[in-house]
Amino acid sequence: MSIESVLHEHRTFTPEEAFSSQAAVPSMQEYHRLCAEAAQDYEGFWAKLARELLVWHKPFTKTLNESEAPFYKWFEDGKLNVSVNCLDKHLDTIPNKTAIIFEADNGEVKNVTYKELYHQVCQFANGLKSLNLVKGDRVIIYLPMGIEAVVAMQACARLGIIHSVVFGGFSAKSLNERIIDAGAVAVITSDGQFRGGKTLPLKQAVDEGMAMGGCESIRDIVVFQKTGQDVAWNDQCIWWHDLIAGKADTCEPVMVDAEHPLFLLYTSGSTGKPKGVQHSSAGYLLHAMNTMRWTFDIKPEDIYWCTADVGWITGHSYVTYGPLAMGATQIVFEGIPTYPNAGRFWQMIQRHKVSVFYTAPTAIRSLIKAGEMDYTTHPNHFELSSLRLLGTVGEPINPEAWMWYFEQVGGNRCPIVDTFWQTETGGHVITPLPGATPLVPGSCTLPFPGIDIDVVDETGKDIPWGNGGLLVIKKPWPSMIRTIYNDPERFKSSYYPAELGGKLYLAGDGAIRDTKTGNFTIMGRIDDVLNVSGHRLGTMEIESALVANHLVAESAVVGKPHPIKGESVVAYVVLKGKRPEGEEAKKIVAELREWVGKEIGPIAKPDEIRFGDNLPKTRSGKIMRRLLRSLAKGEEITSDISTLDNPAILEQLKQPVN
Ligand code: PRX
Repeated sequence: MSIESVLHEHRTFTPEEAFSSQAAVPSMQEYHRLCAEAAQDYEGFWAKLARELLVWHKPFTKTLNESEAPFYKWFEDGKLNVSVNCLDKHLDTIPNKTAIIFEADNGEVKNVTYKELYHQVCQFANGLKSLNLVKGDRVIIYLPMGIEAVVAMQACARLGIIHSVVFGGFSAKSLNERIIDAGAVAVITSDGQFRGGKTLPLKQAVDEGMAMGGCESIRDIVVFQKTGQDVAWNDQCIWWHDLIAGKADTCEPVMVDAEHPLFLLYTSGSTGKPKGVQHSSAGYLLHAMNTMRWTFDIKPEDIYWCTADVGWITGHSYVTYGPLAMGATQIVFEGIPTYPNAGRFWQMIQRHKVSVFYTAPTAIRSLIKAGEMDYTTHPNHFELSSLRLLGTVGEPINPEAWMWYFEQVGGNRCPIVDTFWQTETGGHVITPLPGATPLVPGSCTLPFPGIDIDVVDETGKDIPWGNGGLLVIKKPWPSMIRTIYNDPERFKSSYYPAELGGKLYLAGDGAIRDTKTGNFTIMGRIDDVLNVSGHRLGTMEIESALVANHLVAESAVVGKPHPIKGESVVAYVVLKGKRPEGEEAKKIVAELREWVGKEIGPIAKPDEIRFGDNLPKTRSGKIMRRLLRSLAKGEEITSDISTLDNPAILEQLKQPVN
């Protein structure tokens, strides 16, 4: 997306009266009142929300502890249980309300009420207890999207076990690294999974990951029987159904401190090693709930659908925790948007009468294209009048895609909340509030009330609106990352860098604010992190994977703008042997793509690979990534390359092999 196109975007959509009049935050006046309340008494603002929204076992008396900043603590002397807040709380009020409408890949539907979900979670928690899993243990969850994934996460929360969900698209190697870093004692997986009409293995990757070594901490592997396919078996393995057989369907929750880690979620940073982002229990849940209320305007009668997989933070906050804690009815979808055809999302919205729909720009862009090619998959062919609110997340949405979503999906009627946030922020930090905020296509608009977010220069100083700079959060907030597991120093240096004075949370994105409205436009990552189809990938991570191949001497990875995926991955590779050409080059490209798929996961496979005898470097040996990015885009190099040691290399790197 060109930043220019967003900065010159003058279309504004003010909320309609019909929406505002029923909204949780019904006007800009109310929005400003909430922001002012937070500005006047910051701790009081959050304390009030925490008392209003969370069920405490022991109420907190201290709101924020900054004594060990940036390791902030919120509500630290309070005690609670997250699963009690998501399930037990509803037993008296809405036991028979549908919590989850599960739609399988093949279209079969299964509903679960709050009471049923509560019993399933309790029974599975009793199963975990029988494996001697206790509070503070780390457990890896590697499951397909489905009720079981939610049950497994909630059961961990019930016992104070710290889960770390690994997205099913990550490889055995990635799984192995996460098991080791987390020191996990158990893995919860399934035999296989259904995706797009195919039956794919899943446990096999666990077996391969374990075989790579270093996983001695693992005692048990719990396997849900999903597909019925054959799986390898040893003493460590136990079927989910055997584990819960005969177990009670109630289970005493383990009360934990507000700051007890609820989960670790690994995400990419600017070094080769993914970081285990650690979240708290109370502060995290509080923001998941409050954003459900103010951003998604969730109401008891809504049918809510967030299409994210629980392997990502969006699936944590806006599938497993937020909606359940708010007592919402939600769709959980096993499949993919293009199976059996690209009308699947619209067909499901029609079928289940979805009213609040939250998805990624990359999905929207690919469905626009598909709808143009096959008109029967176009949203116009479906009855979408149940929709009242739309949302996007994960990457910038270009104004054209925004307009299409607004007109074709939302029928010019539904506000769109373009929610900016990150794995580390736990929930939305910049977003429109749909009954209040005037919407501008391509802009995530204004800070969520209570989040002190702004744009500064590289020394941490405020800059006037209208100037691009670094996105920072100036005050700690309840759902913020607490640390990087096993690496507190990296937490400090990555997020609270000394160059900015050590007190500002550095998001890692560039941003600019509109001179009149103060609306934010995100300009993309300022570090070596790529955003491919809304998935976060580290360039260094892919480079390390490539150089681990026996053929590769050196590599540099950059992103290139892509009309559907947002960004695509371009890898420049220097082989140990001679630079390959023709068929030989094609063969090696295929081999290296496969290799990266095995090292990290299919999502990280480079879209293009280019070979050179060397990489463009300065005389001091630094790779000139700026040039590589220009080459990837097919731009002529017009800038000064006098510091370049080996200009002839640029010619070689102009063309992809594939
Ligand atoms: O670059 C921003 C982009 O996604 C990054 C965070 O990725 P991740 O931790 O995987 O979380 C994704 C889901 C919350 C950010 O640093 N990003 C996320 N949302 C938006 C966005 N960029 C622009 N607009 C957004 N709404």
